[in-house]
Amino acid sequence: MTDATVRRDALVEVYNQASVCELCPLAETRNSVVFGAGNADADLMFVGEAPGAEEDRQGLPFVGRAGGFLTELLAGIGLKREDVFIANVLKCRPPGNRDPEGEEIDSCRPYLESQVELIEPRIIGTLGNFATKLLTGNPTGITRVRGTAQEHVIGGRPVYLLPLFHPAAGLRTPAVADQLRQDFEAIPGLLERALPEGPEPIAPEHEREPDQLGFFG
Ligand code: URA
Repeated sequence: MTDATVRRDALVEVYNQASVCELCPLAETRNSVVFGAGNADADLMFVGEAPGAEEDRQGLPFVGRAGGFLTELLAGIGLKREDVFIANVLKCRPPGNRDPEGEEIDSCRPYLESQVELIEPRIIGTLGNFATKLLTGNPTGITRVRGTAQEHVIGGRPVYLLPLFHPAAGLRTPAVADQLRQDFEAIPGLLERALPEGPEPIAPEHEREPDQLGFFG
């Protein structure tokens, strides 16, 4: 079996677990678990906030209007959706598209962690304030950090995090759409750039210092 096959099979296993998840109250209101979609071997991954109504209906991420704009932004840099992996912080739709709550984020976090660990992207584009703050571990708003790649260690591996406006914000405000197009232009160069030095090999979990246990940030 190739590495890619092993990775895909492991991801399918996580998908199977997530698809029957009842860890938080969203299990009662969702129509589908929106696990994520795309290339399990991708160098580039995107993380949005949570599925909306159309995603909940279809069981796929970013298939509504914001998703259409994301597809267009990818095409602008010569990429297709099949070239990347697209996921969300939450796998289930919060009723009425309200903001995710702490219990929901905590319950869902292991699924996103597994996705990042298995896909091993070189670049993670965080779409919007919510995903950006969670994955960077920094409360600074998206307007101040967007478009500049940050070096992070996620799941024990170095990765570039690229904070980006949420495509839905681009649909509302033409100037934001232009900034998104501009920020996407950084991606091809980042894909070529060597990753920052990796961390020291991580000790087995029971031997780690508390500050080595955090996954994101
Ligand atoms: N907004 C998100 O953050 N994610 C989706 O999948 C759709 C809209």
